[in-house]
Amino acid sequence: MGPVRGVVLAGGTATRLYPLTRITNKHLLPIYDRPMIQWAIEAVVKTGITEVMLVTGGTHAGEFLRLLGDGHDVGLERLTYAYQDGPGGVAQALALAERFARDEPVLVMLADNIIERTVAPTVGAFSADPSGARIVLSEITEPEHLRHLGVAQFHADGRVARIIEKPEDPPSRFAVTGVYCYDASVFSVVAGLKPSNRNELEIADVNNHYAQRGELAFDVLEGFWGDAGESIDAYYAVNDFVREHGANKG
Ligand code: DAU
Repeated sequence: MGPVRGVVLAGGTATRLYPLTRITNKHLLPIYDRPMIQWAIEAVVKTGITEVMLVTGGTHAGEFLRLLGDGHDVGLERLTYAYQDGPGGVAQALALAERFARDEPVLVMLADNIIERTVAPTVGAFSADPSGARIVLSEITEPEHLRHLGVAQFHADGRVARIIEKPEDPPSRFAVTGVYCYDASVFSVVAGLKPSNRNELEIADVNNHYAQRGELAFDVLEGFWGDAGESIDAYYAVNDFVREHGANKG
């Protein structure tokens, strides 16, 4: 088996941040002193991954190339790009990385996620046994916040039973962050998905596929986690946190 390869997802339309995102891509908006996407790339680099595919879409895809180029300046050996035609969902964006992954396991990172502490331990644990899937959860206490996220439901023995996307009634306090490790079978899982009610191929359905097979491991993050695309208030809360404390720390 070769090393884990990185897939950073930065497509979608980001209507929750309109009108800011009518004139640029969400992941190019600033988080403190740099464009949002750079924090996600840094999070991946800090796990030791050296080859990344960045998936984006919309009308500002070229600006990612101008910002990140071949990736050498941000610590990557190789950075390649894919273009998603229309916001068909997180799992549809992931499908574009199939050939890039070349039958190796992947670390998938949503580019609007900002994490205080490195996810290197998760990638390390997955690399040691790269079968099934391993996701990262974050404990969140406010039910209102959980209703905007994917939330884990657990079996009595502590394993994840399933992920419920945007639950009315959150089944636990553990939100699913945008950090996922998958074995190479993920691409056949995605190929079998049906679009959800919001007409997207959902990453929660991918995770539920692994959960049903009893192959969904998880870690719980310590420290801050934020989804800067969740709302304009979340965007500013993430900015305030990063300005004060930084992100992706060891
Ligand atoms: O941030 C964590 C949450 O991300 C999880 O708790 C949810 O389970 C997961 O479904 C996702 O929910 P969101 O509603 O936040 O997903 P969103 O539509 O904002 O997409 C997240 C990122 O995925 C976005 O920053 C860019 C990428 N994306 C999204 C879509 C819809 C794409 O690359 N292409 C797409 O078509």
